[in-house]
Amino acid sequence: MRFCKPTLIPILLLMGFTIDQTPRQTLTSFGASGGWWPNDLIHFPREVQRNLSSFLFSEDGLYLSSYRYNVGADGGNDANQVTTNGSRIESFLLRNGTYDWSRDRAGVTFLKAAQEYGVPYITFFVTAAPSHIASNEAACGWNMTGDKIPVFAEYLQTVLSYWIENGINVNYISPVNEPDNLRADCGQEGMALDPSLRASLARTLRAELDSSPASKVGIIYDETSQITTQAIPEYPE
Ligand SMILES: *[C@@H]1O[C@H](CO)[C@@H](O)[C@H](O)[C@H]1NC(C)=O
Ligand SMILES: *[C@@H]1O[C@H](CO)[C@@H](O)[C@H](O)[C@H]1NC(C)=O
Ligand SMILES: *[C@@H]1O[C@H](CO)[C@@H](O)[C@H](O)[C@H]1NC(C)=O
Ligand SMILES: *[C@@H]1O[C@H](CO)[C@@H](O)[C@H](O)[C@H]1NC(C)=O
Repeated sequence: MRFCKPTLIPILLLMGFTIDQTPRQTLTSFGASGGWWPNDLIHFPREVQRNLSSFLFSEDGLYLSSYRYNVGADGGNDANQVTTNGSRIESFLLRNGTYDWSRDRAGVTFLKAAQEYGVPYITFFVTAAPSHIASNEAACGWNMTGDKIPVFAEYLQTVLSYWIENGINVNYISPVNEPDNLRADCGQEGMALDPSLRASLARTLRAELDSSPASKVGIIYDETSQITTQAIPEYPE
């Protein structure tokens, strides 16, 4: 297992801890999310960025086995946009419907670092559909509707296929992070997806991915934020 440093066990024993080595639960991976700090770190010197990547991903550092890449939703300079600079991520899909794969240099820098260090689990997560798709033309503050699901699924497939074909081993996609919060104040990227539409998105996305270079990408669903007020009442739907 990548995240378990064998040298730690004798140290803990010397400190008087007792360790029950009966396996209890298997952790697939242990990691960190690239939301939203790459936007800040990109302004630091290249050497600092390289050192941070080493701290996170190398065997001499935390040796994380999982990394989440934040797929941005900001398609261009609109009046109607996320107000916190650090919480706005450039999307690859522009407002006019074309793709520009040179965007989000900040996020892509650390995504590529994770891949170069061979992090075994890479997840792409999405807080909002790009402003090209959103009904309010913003990366925040709207409820996704059923008619947008096919175009959103096709967009996700296009993004995943591009990065897989360009050397990123993406294992999972989380298509709607925190689906109950539309971020009405636009302080951060976000959109809501009503529980009644969630199964439809999962099915549409699965079908879209199955016939693409992203066919092996698994879908993480759904990343509701709260157990008692959201997950328990919403999961049955
Ligand atoms: C980066 O890491 C190297 C090697 O540990 C160290 O020598 C150097 O001072 C670090 N650079 C910065 C800017 O922290
Ligand atoms: C936000 O970004 C814009 C455009 O790059 C810049 O003009 C502005 O100073 C930034 N605001 C803050 C608070 O950093
Ligand atoms: C789309 O917008 C981008 C950025 O403004 C521009 O560079 C590009 O030429 C546009 N493409 C089309 C087909 O309009
Ligand atoms: C989004 O949906 C919620 C829950 O149905 C509703 O309260 C809210 O007014 C909607 N907001 C917008 C901007 O459509």
